[in-house]
Amino acid sequence: MQLFLLATAFSGLLFEQLSATPTPVTHYTKRNSGSDANSKWDAAYAKANAALASYNLTEKVTLATGAGWQVGPCVGNIPAIPAQGFPGLCLQDSPLGVRLSTESSAFPAAINVAATFNRDLMYKRAVAMGQEFRGKGVNVALGPMMNMMRAPTGGRAWEGWGGDPFLAGAGSEETVKGIQSQGVQACAKHWLNNEQEHYRDTSSSNVDDRTQHEIYAAPFLKAIRAGVASVMCAYNRVSNTYSCSNSDLLNGLLKTDLGFRGYVQSDWWATHATTDALAGLDMTMPGNKVYGNAPDSYFGEELVAAVQNGTIPESRVNDMATRILAAFYLTNQDEGFPATNLYSWNFTDPRNQHVNVQGDHASIIRQIDGASTVLLKNKGSLPLKKPRTMAIIGSDAGPNPDGPNACADRGCNTGTLAMGWGSGTAEFPYLVDPLSAITTHASADGTAITSSLSDSDLAAAASAASGKEVAIVFINSDSGEAYITVEGNAGDRNDLYAWHGGDALVQAVAAVNPNTIVVVHASGPVLMEAWIDHPNITAVLWPGLPGQESGNGLVDVLYGAVNPSGRLPYTIAKQRSDYPADVLYTSSDAIPQVDYTEGLYIDYRWFDKKNIAPRFEFGFGLSYTSFKYSALAVWPYALKGGPRASTDESLHQNIATVTFIIKNNGPLDGTEIPQLYLKFPDSANSPPQVLRGFDSVFLRKGQTKVVSFDISRYDISVWDTNKQKWVIPSGKFGVSIGASSRDERLSSSLVLF
Ligand SMILES: *[C@@H]1O[C@H](CO)[C@@H](O)[C@H](O)[C@H]1NC(C)=O
Ligand SMILES: *[C@@H]1O[C@H](CO)[C@@H](O)[C@H](O)[C@H]1NC(C)=O
Ligand SMILES: *[C@@H]1O[C@H](CO)[C@@H](O)[C@H](O)[C@H]1NC(C)=O
Ligand SMILES: *[C@@H]1O[C@H](CO)[C@@H](O)[C@H](O)[C@H]1NC(C)=O
Repeated sequence: MQLFLLATAFSGLLFEQLSATPTPVTHYTKRNSGSDANSKWDAAYAKANAALASYNLTEKVTLATGAGWQVGPCVGNIPAIPAQGFPGLCLQDSPLGVRLSTESSAFPAAINVAATFNRDLMYKRAVAMGQEFRGKGVNVALGPMMNMMRAPTGGRAWEGWGGDPFLAGAGSEETVKGIQSQGVQACAKHWLNNEQEHYRDTSSSNVDDRTQHEIYAAPFLKAIRAGVASVMCAYNRVSNTYSCSNSDLLNGLLKTDLGFRGYVQSDWWATHATTDALAGLDMTMPGNKVYGNAPDSYFGEELVAAVQNGTIPESRVNDMATRILAAFYLTNQDEGFPATNLYSWNFTDPRNQHVNVQGDHASIIRQIDGASTVLLKNKGSLPLKKPRTMAIIGSDAGPNPDGPNACADRGCNTGTLAMGWGSGTAEFPYLVDPLSAITTHASADGTAITSSLSDSDLAAAASAASGKEVAIVFINSDSGEAYITVEGNAGDRNDLYAWHGGDALVQAVAAVNPNTIVVVHASGPVLMEAWIDHPNITAVLWPGLPGQESGNGLVDVLYGAVNPSGRLPYTIAKQRSDYPADVLYTSSDAIPQVDYTEGLYIDYRWFDKKNIAPRFEFGFGLSYTSFKYSALAVWPYALKGGPRASTDESLHQNIATVTFIIKNNGPLDGTEIPQLYLKFPDSANSPPQVLRGFDSVFLRKGQTKVVSFDISRYDISVWDTNKQKWVIPSGKFGVSIGASSRDERLSSSLVLF
C-alpha cells in the first residue's frame, strides 16, 4: 500500500511536469477481459440451461454434429432444430475474411496486422470482418488462427501473428473482441501445436510443459479471457495423442487450467472416435468421418447409441450442448441474426444472394497496409519525389492475367502476392496490383513508367531498369496449407529464398541501376544476403501479405502519404540454419515426432540466447523521421504474492506501470512503435528478454508524448511445472524500452516485494 501511494505521488509529479502535453498516456483503447467475459458467460449459461431443459437426447446431439461435407451453404453447418426454434449454425472460414463468398473483402493477413503493432487496427479489422460475417449470416467465423511461427517455413504461419506469444496474444484478443462485438462467434485455432503442414494428420508435436504454457497456449489464454466462443482442436497429435482425442489437452489444459467455457469443435475430419467426446470434444466438423460425402459420423446416431449403452454419460452430452448453446447466447444470436445468404459451393447458385457486405472496409484495409509495411533499408531514396523515369520489374508487380481468384483457394503464385493459399483465404473482390497503382500515381507526377514483368528474362529486366531514375524490383515468397502443392511446396515452403529466381532478378537490376528499390511480398522471412548490402540497392520495403488494397497501400508508403511504422513480427536471419527450429520434412516413423527441443527459445529468444546476429531483428522497422526516447520511470505498486492459477483474476491484475517520453525529433510527422522487453532474473531460467508491451504512437514533427505500459503479474511470471502454477521469480527484472528487440533506447529495473 505504501509503495502504491509513493508511486502514485511520484507519477503525479511526473505528469504535472508534462502538463504542457495534454495527450493521453496510453494510445490505444483498452477493452475489458477476464471477469467481464466470465459474467457474460454466466448469463449465457443460464439461458442455455433453461433452453436445454426441453431438448431430448437426439436434439442435444444434433447441436454437436455437423450436417456433413457440402451439406448446407457453409463449410460447416449445424442443422436447425425446428421443434426448439433453434435456427442452426453456419461456420465459415477464414481468419482474413469470409471465405468462398462474393461481394466481401479480402483483408490483410494476420501476419500483416501483427506487423502494425497497433491494437486499435487489430480491433478495427476484426470489427469490419465481424460485420461481413454477420452480413452473410455466418454464425461462427473460423479465426483467429494463433499457432506460432516456430519454423520460418511453416506453411500457415502467415494466418497467425508471427514469432512472439505476447504479440500473438494481443492480436488474438483484439480479434476475438472485434468479431464478437458484431454478434459473431470467433474460433481460436488450432489447439494445439499445429506449427507445420508436413505430416499434420499423423505427426506428434512434443512440447515441454513450461514451453506449452509460456509460448503455445499463451495466445489462447488471451483469447479465452476475451470471451472467445469456440476453440478448434487441431489435426496433429500432441504427446502422441490426437488433439481432438486428447483429454489432457481439452479437459485438462484448455477447459480446466485455462478455464475455457465455450465449445471445442474439431478441425475438418480431425475427430477420430465417438469417445473423443469424453476427451472434451464438443462438436464434430464437418460432421462425417473422413473427407468425402459419406454420411456416417462419430457423433450423430453413434453418439446417441453410445449414451444409450452407457459408454458416454448423458451428462457429458448435456455439457456439450450447454457449451454450444451458451456460445450462441453469449453472442446474442437468438436476436435478429441474419439468415445465411452465401453459398460456398457455387457462386452462381441462387442460394448465393450476392449481399454486398464490404461497406467502407477498403479504407481500413488500406490503412492497415500502410501501417504494416516495414521499411527495412533506406539510403534516402524514399519517399519518392516525382522521379522523371521509373522502371517496374517482376511478375509480383503486376496482375494475374487470369484474375486474382484464378486459382482455387489462391493455390498458385502468378501475379502479385497478397495472401497465402489454403482454407485461410478469401476471394478477392478486386486486387489493386502495384503496377497499376504506381502508374496511376506516376501519371499525375508526369513520371514515365517502363515495366518488365518477367522474372526469368534478366536481359529485359536490365534493359527496362537501365538509365531510369529509379527501378523498383518486386519479388515474393508464398506458402499455404498442405492440401495444395504450389511450385513444389507442399504447404510449408521448401526454402527461404525468393521464388522464381528473385535474387537473380534483383541482382540483374541492381547491376545497372544505382537507385534500385526492392519490394518483398512474403508469407514469412526471406533470405536476402545475396543482395541486401548491394550499394545500388537504396531501399527495401516489406509489405507482407496486404490483401485487396495492395498497390494502394504500397503507394501510400512509397510516396510518403504514410510514414512507415510497420515492424517485423519475426526475425529475418542471415541463413536458414540460424533459426532454432525447422519443419520436419521427412520421417520414416508411423507417427513422425516433431520435438520442440528448442523449448522457450523460438524466434528472437533464440538469436538473443545464442548471440546470433540476425539480418533484421524482431520488432525492426525504419521510419522517414526519427524519435528520441527519455525519462523512463518504473512504478511498482503491488506486492507480488504467491503462486497463482491461469484462471486466478489477480494473476492478470497490473502491478507496475512504466512511463517514458518520446519526441519526434525528425523532419516529418510519423508513428513510432515503442516496445517494452523484460529481462527476467537469472533464477527464472528465462530467455534473455521477452516482449511485454508495445504501442503505436503518432507524433507530429517536433511533438512529445508520454507513453505508459502496464505490467501484470502474469507478464512477470513463469510457469512452475512442479507447483503447476504461475510464480514470480525472485530477483530484479530489467526493463528495456526500445524501437526493436535490439534497439534499446532506455533501461531500468523493476523490483517487487
Ligand atoms: C426428439 O425431438 C425430435 C424433434 O426435434 C423428435 O423428432 C424426436 O422424435 C424426439 N426424440 C425422442 C426420443 O423423443
Ligand atoms: C456402444 O455404442 C457405440 C456406438 O454405437 C459402439 O461403438 C460401442 O461399441 C457400444 N458399446 C457397448 C459396450 O455396447
Ligand atoms: C452452379 O449453379 C448454376 C445456377 O444454378 C448452375 O447452372 C450450374 O450448373 C452450377 N454449377 C455447378 C458446377 O454445379
Ligand atoms: C551500380 O550501378 C551502376 C550503373 O549506374 C553500375 O555501373 C555499377 O556497376 C553498379 N554497381 C554494382 C556494384 O553493381
